[in-house]
Amino acid sequence: MHYRSVGDVPRKRHLRVPHPSGDGFLFEELMGSDGFSQESALLYHLRSPSALVDIAAVDDPRALQPAPTADCPLQPRHLRTADVPPRGDAVLGRTVLLANDDVVISCARPSDPSPLYRNAGGDELIYAQRGALTLETVFGSLDVTAGDYAVVPTSTTHRWLPRTDDVEMLIVECRHGHLTVPSRYLSARGQLVEGAPYSERDFHGPAAPLFVDGDDPGVIVRNAAGLTRLTHAGHPFDVIAWDGCLYPFTFSILDFEPLVGAIHQPPPVHQTFAGPGFVVCSFVPRPFDFHPEAIKIPYHHANVDSDEVLFYSGGDFMSRTGSGIGPGSISFHPAGFVHGPQPGSMERSAGQTATGETAVMIDTFRPLMVSDAARAISDDAYAFTWSGGRRK
Ligand SMILES: [Fe+2]
Repeated sequence: MHYRSVGDVPRKRHLRVPHPSGDGFLFEELMGSDGFSQESALLYHLRSPSALVDIAAVDDPRALQPAPTADCPLQPRHLRTADVPPRGDAVLGRTVLLANDDVVISCARPSDPSPLYRNAGGDELIYAQRGALTLETVFGSLDVTAGDYAVVPTSTTHRWLPRTDDVEMLIVECRHGHLTVPSRYLSARGQLVEGAPYSERDFHGPAAPLFVDGDDPGVIVRNAAGLTRLTHAGHPFDVIAWDGCLYPFTFSILDFEPLVGAIHQPPPVHQTFAGPGFVVCSFVPRPFDFHPEAIKIPYHHANVDSDEVLFYSGGDFMSRTGSGIGPGSISFHPAGFVHGPQPGSMERSAGQTATGETAVMIDTFRPLMVSDAARAISDDAYAFTWSGGRRK
């Protein structure tokens, strides 16, 4: 992210800064990525962020479920996330649907405030499908409403507070590493270039520090071993200033500026984020292709190196008419399957001039495993909708 400064940041780094209590000095924390050779942030704590008073193992709800298994026999799937019952909070109440060694894709319909949480494995990308939440972090607070992406960098202490009772979320969790904007959108010196589908103004970081007085209720930390509760000597939201290029931010999918051509444009024009082993694309309302003979829906295609996950957020998905797909649906098209428009949609598209669809696509470069929870909400008829339901 671009540089951001919040609170009263000292004039020079790494010099003594008097503590506002008059007793001692502030505690710097340099939060750095990739061995301190890439983006970092410098945070000024009132207390030592290392002052632990308790360490305890925590039951991991994921460990209570069977691990996702290979999609065998290979089949395209329609997952109805609306059939996942609301439960718990936005961290421990997640339902894992698809996963591999690079990424975990979950959904959640939380009603409770989450515990303080820190994912030490990788960055998290949350897409808010419905409702409104507050994302409180050690960097400050962010409002997250329907249509927003929120990116939470690795090891950011945070918690999710639902503000409405209809929250639905899609969660894309890096198992390792970081989410970035595609390098082709950046100048050699790091500015988003003209022609990129968004600008720095479209990304929103915390505007003010967040200070919470009192005790630490405990921070749930996820790493490869599972979950641990680390309890500190004081509440971890004690940062009074920070600056740098590493921080949580939001980006509305409706601020993505779609590229439209005379004929159908390929998926990379929709790319929004890059992650280790996957990409994220945004499909947003846009005029259709304008060549007089253009086929205004995707041709049949085989992304031979990827599994494709498409989360349908809103609008009318013309190319999927007849498949049962609607808002809240996920289509899962694994490598090895050629997919394309449903029967009749090419003809239906001829007189159309625009699409109002909103969707989030995750293409992974390694095969995804399928959870029992995903199989439980899978529409088995979907795989045969291209043949009009005819089965041998
Ligand atoms: Fe596709």
